[in-house]
Amino acid sequence: MFEKVEEYKKLLQDAKASTRDELEQFRMKFISKKSVVSELFNDFRNVPNEQKKAFGQALNELKNQAQEKFQTLVDALDSAGPDMSEVVDMTLPNIPGETGSIHPLTITRNKIIEIFERMGFNVASGPEIEEDFYNFTALNFPENHPAREMQDTFFIEKGPDKVLRTHTSNVQARLMEGNTPPFRSIMPGRVYRNEAISARAHCFFHQVEGLYVDKNVGFKDLKDTVYHFVRELFGADTKVRFRPSYFPFTEPSAEIDISCFICGGKGCNVCKGTTWVEIGGCGMVDPNVLKSCGIDPEEYTGFAFGMGIERITMLKYQINDLRLFSENDVRFLKQFEGTF
Ligand code: PHE
Repeated sequence: MFEKVEEYKKLLQDAKASTRDELEQFRMKFISKKSVVSELFNDFRNVPNEQKKAFGQALNELKNQAQEKFQTLVDALDSAGPDMSEVVDMTLPNIPGETGSIHPLTITRNKIIEIFERMGFNVASGPEIEEDFYNFTALNFPENHPAREMQDTFFIEKGPDKVLRTHTSNVQARLMEGNTPPFRSIMPGRVYRNEAISARAHCFFHQVEGLYVDKNVGFKDLKDTVYHFVRELFGADTKVRFRPSYFPFTEPSAEIDISCFICGGKGCNVCKGTTWVEIGGCGMVDPNVLKSCGIDPEEYTGFAFGMGIERITMLKYQINDLRLFSENDVRFLKQFEGTF
């Protein structure tokens, strides 16, 4: 026992610490709860009674010596300035971080907003988790419409129903309700449908809705607006075709097709040989919709349209798989910066 104390005293005398790591090793060995000094204190009860006094004294001396030495080492290190092993060399060249790029869907959305803003449209938005009323009822969907089935729509709550909006047309209803025309807005946003994911379908995608309600708005205004938009976005030679269709909230309704600018009218795999590609739906706002939003259809008329942002982006850049937009592969995503 006594030899050990002497041995440690000797070790303490010679101990050095030229770095913080070495100082920490010293602390562990001589000061901490698991130090050799603590171990000796634990052995105290095994010392024969007649030696206890002398051993206790020797132990306390060792303890004090360890603490003094520790303080000396700390002071020495502190006055020596920073430990060179921990200093950061500020003159080393930086490792450059990757700069991000704008997502292709955002590029398309911004371009669409820019074109419509020049025509006097402002931008409106609405919730993606939506009450049945705004997504369906206010838009003249009958009670038994197939879009209200679980296979087509994601229901969040039943009775009263809440859904993930299936289109951006909910914002039309929210915009009109409680306000008075004129309305001239576009409404870009994310929409959800309960579909199996493939190259051409996804459980979510983006649309941009347009709504124009005022006195004396006619189908001609709708056509002019769409013509102008398409030519601005796809080029002055692009032709537009309105193909009769049906939507519960517009009457009459049409699909908007544009001439295939990829093959220029020769027929290709994008237009599937038809020379036309569909970009969205449109129509004159159904008087029932105006009424359910508190607007007098005798006084006001309007048109609405909805287009797929993915669809437009895929056509513009000839992208053939919808899933690429949400896979977050930067090799795909960073190719679009500065285009359009
Ligand atoms: N909401 C329709 C859809 O999702 C598109 C549309 C919007 C059609 C506005 C007409 C008027 O398919």
